[in-house]
Amino acid sequence: MKTLVIKNLKKKFSDVWAVKNLNLELNPGEIFVLLGPNGAGKTTTLKLIAGLLHLTDGEIYIKEIDIKKEPIKAKSLIGYIPDEPFIYNKLTGREFINFIAGIYKIKRENYEKKMEDLFKKFEIGDWIDEFSESYSHGMKQKVIMCQLFLHNPDLILIDEPLVGLDPKSSKTVRECFFDLKNKGKTLFICTHTLSFAKEIASRIGIINAGELKFIGSLEELSRISGAKDIEEIYLKLTEESVSVDIK
Ligand SMILES: Nc1ncnc2c1ncn2[C@@H]1O[C@H](COP(=O)(O)OP(=O)(O)O)[C@@H](O)[C@H]1O
Ligand SMILES: [Mg+2]
Repeated sequence: MKTLVIKNLKKKFSDVWAVKNLNLELNPGEIFVLLGPNGAGKTTTLKLIAGLLHLTDGEIYIKEIDIKKEPIKAKSLIGYIPDEPFIYNKLTGREFINFIAGIYKIKRENYEKKMEDLFKKFEIGDWIDEFSESYSHGMKQKVIMCQLFLHNPDLILIDEPLVGLDPKSSKTVRECFFDLKNKGKTLFICTHTLSFAKEIASRIGIINAGELKFIGSLEELSRISGAKDIEEIYLKLTEESVSVDIK
C-alpha cells in the first residue's frame, strides 16, 4: 500500500498559484526530498498534506484514507515538523512532550524511557526542564523531533530540518531519519539544501513556481539531463522566476 498518493493537487492564494498540479506517490521505507528555491511551494505542499491548509483542487490519500473525508483518521497517521517549530512558551520541553502524549492518549509508562533516550541522543540535557521560551530554534526543533516517536506515524513531514542545527545535531537528525526509514516509515522532507538531499534521499522532487519539474533518483536526474553536476541541473530547473498565474 502506498503511504501517500497525491492527485492533481492545486493551491491558490488570492492571485498566486502556490501549487499548480502536483502528482506524487510515496512508498513505505522511502525518504523523499522535495527541493526548490524560496517561494517554490514546498511549505504549502506539506501543509496541504498535513491538513493545515484547504486545497483548492485535487486529492490526497494517506494509506488510502482521503484526507478530505476522514481528516482525523488521516492526521493520526502523520507526524509534522514545521519550519518554524512551535512550543507554548510557558511549557518546558518535557511538559510539551507530556501534553502531546496526552493528545494521542499514550500512557506515560509507554513513552518515558524512549523519550529519555532521545533527549540524550539529541543532547537536550537540562534544557528539557526549562521553559521553551528560552530555547534556540534548533533546541525547539530537537524537542519537536522527539515527539515524532510518541504516536509512531507512518508518514513524517519535515520542513527545512537543518535550519538552526549545529553539525553534530544535524548528523543525529540524519541518523534518526535513516532509522525511521529502516523501520518502514515514509519521510517527506522539504529543503532548499541540495547537499542534504544528496546525502539522504531515496528519491528527489524538484519544484519551482508551484510546478514539479522532476521526480526520480539522483542518478536518473544526472542521466536525463546528460550532465554530471547535480548543482547545475538543479539551477537550470529552477532558474525561471516565480510565475503569478496559471494557464
Ligand atoms: N498564507 C499565504 N498567503 C498568501 N500567499 C502565500 C501564503 N503562503 C505561501 N504563499 C505564497 O505561495 C508561494 C509558495 O510559498 P511556500 O510554499 O511558502 O514556498 P517554499 O516553502 O517553497 O519557500 C509563494 O509565492 C508564497 O508567497
Ligand atoms: Mg518553506
